[in-house]
Amino acid sequence: MASSHPLLIVGNWKMNPESLTSARQLFIDIRGAIAKKKLAPTVAIAPPTPFLTEIGKLSPSKRISLVAQTVSVNQSGAHTGESSVSMLKSVGVASVIIGHSERRASGVTDEMVVAKTIAVLKAGMTAIVCVGEKERDTHGHYFTTVETQLQAVLKGLSKASLSRLVVAYEPIWAIGTGNTATAEDAHEMKLFIQKIIATVCGRANVKKVRILYGGSVTDKNAAQLLVDGEVDGFLIGGSSLKATTFANIVTIAHAHTTHGT
Ligand code: PGA
Repeated sequence: MASSHPLLIVGNWKMNPESLTSARQLFIDIRGAIAKKKLAPTVAIAPPTPFLTEIGKLSPSKRISLVAQTVSVNQSGAHTGESSVSMLKSVGVASVIIGHSERRASGVTDEMVVAKTIAVLKAGMTAIVCVGEKERDTHGHYFTTVETQLQAVLKGLSKASLSRLVVAYEPIWAIGTGNTATAEDAHEMKLFIQKIIATVCGRANVKKVRILYGGSVTDKNAAQLLVDGEVDGFLIGGSSLKATTFANIVTIAHAHTTHGT
């Protein structure tokens, strides 16, 4: 079941590149590489926090939408080093990645993911919530991991906010390793995630939520993940740091939408 939204292609730059000058150049290269096309997918970039304002200025029309890689669970006050939902919103951020496995590894809990998601959605922004198992076992315990992560989030949400919820299935074993999940595995997990949404939020709400895949996506595997995986887009790390590769993936997503290929 496809979502009712356009495909969403998100580049997560993580802690790259090393300077504002290089970040501006990378963004300009990506912008240039996708400039000619009237794009069917929504394209979004998540630069490091210090670069958000300047990178946002490079797409004043919001053709490339601005994403934050994380947000504080707190609203204001004595939280050294953190950025609040309203701060991010005030510099033009439209969406926030929440619960990326690299954040979870440094202490972000399921409870914090729930609180952040509620705060981001309440502010009228889009929440890109990452779920995914560390490893695959033969007993299917990885389904339980995803179910636990997702159920916690879904329980706290209003039905009205579900169209701004994006779930990114990112198996940790696939992130930055070159071991992409097969299209069949991605599809199976998408169906499983939709089953959880149907159970918690009701069948009528399933199509409101976009389900992305992330983990070693390249321009070589993107088409198959869209065709056979039937995912609603990608969360892309390494390949988003190469303007040509990232633009190729956008082109593939565009062709998939317009020609079904
Ligand atoms: P990768 O990272 O594309 O480099 O595997 C994906 C992610 O962590 O979002």
